[in-house]
Amino acid sequence: MTTVVFDRIGELVTNDLAHGGPLGVLRDAAVVVEGDRVAWVGPSAQAPAADDRIDLEGAAVLPGFVDSHAHLVFAGDRAEEFAARMEGRPYSAGGIATTVAATREATDEALAANVARLVAEMARQGTTTVEIKSGYGLTTYDETRALAVARQFTEETTFLGAHVVPREYAEDVAAYVALVTGPMLEAAAPHARWIDVFCERGAFDADQARTILAAGRAAGLLPRVHANQLGPGPGITVACEVAAASADHCTFASAEDVANLADAGVVATLLPGVEFSTRSPYPDARALLEAGVTVALATDCNPGSCYTSSMPLCIALAVREMRMSPDEAVWSATAGGGAALRLDDVGRLQAGARADLTVLAAPSYLHLAYRPGVPIAAALDLDSVTGYRPDSS
Ligand code: NIG
Ligand code: FE
Repeated sequence: MTTVVFDRIGELVTNDLAHGGPLGVLRDAAVVVEGDRVAWVGPSAQAPAADDRIDLEGAAVLPGFVDSHAHLVFAGDRAEEFAARMEGRPYSAGGIATTVAATREATDEALAANVARLVAEMARQGTTTVEIKSGYGLTTYDETRALAVARQFTEETTFLGAHVVPREYAEDVAAYVALVTGPMLEAAAPHARWIDVFCERGAFDADQARTILAAGRAAGLLPRVHANQLGPGPGITVACEVAAASADHCTFASAEDVANLADAGVVATLLPGVEFSTRSPYPDARALLEAGVTVALATDCNPGSCYTSSMPLCIALAVREMRMSPDEAVWSATAGGGAALRLDDVGRLQAGARADLTVLAAPSYLHLAYRPGVPIAAALDLDSVTGYRPDSS
């Protein structure tokens, strides 16, 4: 297998505690890649010989961002809803129905093209792993095809038939829960690794969420939960009860919720782009971190509550608005996302990990928060690597 040494990395974030925590930063470093895996990490001067050599000319390198929460299978957009929100109309789960109608009308090819566009947009901003949910189909046929489309792009696919109750079931929610836990789950499960439920007023209550997550687990899917996004509620409690990999949003987490997350070892995935785009209060990241909760950062990229694909924006918001340190935010956007997806070979750069390198046109990872809105991060495309040269820093 071909080996490539990426050397003269000015600052390398490894997230490997062997190099000092939490980010395991090495200076004047090199990474040797064999096929699609990291083979060696260390000082440039000690790098072993390889078939090819790429000089990174002092650029900063970090593990590719792990965007562990995104809703990319949809059609249409809701720019007008956003504009109305900026004039004072509050965000509500009801807008999801608009996207459901457009998504049901779209062909598989159109849905796949939209996902491809967004995944490429993410890679241009440094993301190398993305989780993709269904949830804008809400029929057995449309949820299953959404997951089949998502699987073309990632192994991290999530069945979210329990996003909201579709209009045609508004008078018989129990029948919709029976569909989600029965025929829809059976058809969707072969295309998914995860099951998710929007546990919120206006979506699914605690008992319905428990029923749906238990059925998903029985079908071999692992639970994660949209929890406490729009107000206080039982979502985090349910996520802890079922030992979900992650409770996502946590915008309205009580002190008891924070303690429960810490005790249960459930990752709190914070999505500050949502608070930015819905003009809502940010979650209390400091309380979570100080309680010892593992925090991940993700985009929640979707056409309603947050239409950004940018992990660097989320890092900048986490630092500026949630008082996470730059180190904490970068860890949460990389290794934290890996923890939220229970993957130990992404979000870190050490021998055996996936060779997912994000290169900055900057000398330090600090620039991710220091230069908000500036496109300094890009995922390194291993396939075209020999033509690769970093932009000047
Ligand atoms: O994570 N909370 C539920 N789902 C999405 C929003 C979906 C939408 O508004 O279309 C979220 O914010
Ligand atoms: Fe979401």
